[in-house]
Amino acid sequence: MGMPTVRPNNPNFSSGPCTKRPGWSPAALTDAVVGRSHRSAPGKAKLAEVIERSRSILGIPDDYRLGIVPASDTGAVEIALWSMLGARGVDMLAWESFGAGWVNDMTKQLQLDDVRLCEAEYGLLPDLSQVDCDRDIVFTWNGTTSGVRVPDGDWIADDRGGLTLCDATSAVYAMELPWRKLDVATWSWQKVLGGEAAHGMLALSPRAVERLESYSPPRPLPKVFRLTKGGKLNEGIFKGATINTPSMLAVEDCLDSLKWAESVGGLSGLIDRSKDNLQAIESWVERTDWVRFLAKDPATRSCTSICLELPGDGAEMPGRIAQRLEEETVAYDIDGYRDAPPSLRIWGGATVETADIEALLPWLDWAHGEGYQSAAVE
Ligand SMILES: Cc1ncc(COP(=O)(O)O)c(C=O)c1O
Repeated sequence: MGMPTVRPNNPNFSSGPCTKRPGWSPAALTDAVVGRSHRSAPGKAKLAEVIERSRSILGIPDDYRLGIVPASDTGAVEIALWSMLGARGVDMLAWESFGAGWVNDMTKQLQLDDVRLCEAEYGLLPDLSQVDCDRDIVFTWNGTTSGVRVPDGDWIADDRGGLTLCDATSAVYAMELPWRKLDVATWSWQKVLGGEAAHGMLALSPRAVERLESYSPPRPLPKVFRLTKGGKLNEGIFKGATINTPSMLAVEDCLDSLKWAESVGGLSGLIDRSKDNLQAIESWVERTDWVRFLAKDPATRSCTSICLELPGDGAEMPGRIAQRLEEETVAYDIDGYRDAPPSLRIWGGATVETADIEALLPWLDWAHGEGYQSAAVE
């Protein structure tokens, strides 16, 4: 097969940090409140604006708290786990690397004694019917390294006794989330929004707040984890009075991406953009015999971290393809995650243009053929 002639306009297909919104340039940061205190009136107003615009685009219920916390999505997840868990038994769901990381935290670091693991191999979901909603449940909405997502929240009981703690970082802004089923949800700006890392978002249901105010975990909590003061929720955090100093450049960048999100139709516009990206890849996979989705069940296919395996090829083939396409400046960062089975991973979140995905597909076929040739030479 000859080398295709049309390159994607934008070769950035990384699963995080993800590509900036179409048309982004550093000029988007011109209005950043830099060189001023983040606790000044204009600084606080910017932080509060991030919270309000995020809430409004995502349709987060009015009685949920939403705050900006340190250390990206990881920070938001860790704050929640360390502050809330231990009050009752925990069901931990893991089907890829990030979920497995949270399991490790619970068992090795927090050393909780009543933890039940519900695990599955890459490509599959655990049996969700086994989950006990009277225990706390920790899970990832979209497994970024396997491209397997939970299809919905129907398996979570409305009248649950436990809390649900959901790492939703590669799902938020690209998938419908049933907020009332989620007591804690976390994400960062560097994924579907194409924003910057370093800050996380933490959404808390009224029941999560109740847990924080009624349960004192039997462990020391570092300052950056502390959401309460004198046994009461520190409400300031959820109005933009961050625990420590945020980057006001990152905040401005987040506001830029939120305004862009509004301009493409808000949440439904973002979801449609991501679904179109998945669909473009789905039709190509259907007509291509060397590739298939890592996700076994189509209902669990991610529309953001789209993971593909190459059943007839050796383990080195995805890396060869990724490297060749990087050399051609056609696609960056599409080799599967280091802990995942050999695979390609193409980000299809809302900031990726479907035309760029479509332009990439013939290159994948080409680089696959090239991969055979270079294997023959070696
Ligand atoms: C599911 C999931 N959880 C956590 C993280 C870590 O996010 P961050 O580096 O923004 O803290 C990622 C990043 O890829 C992720 O995909």
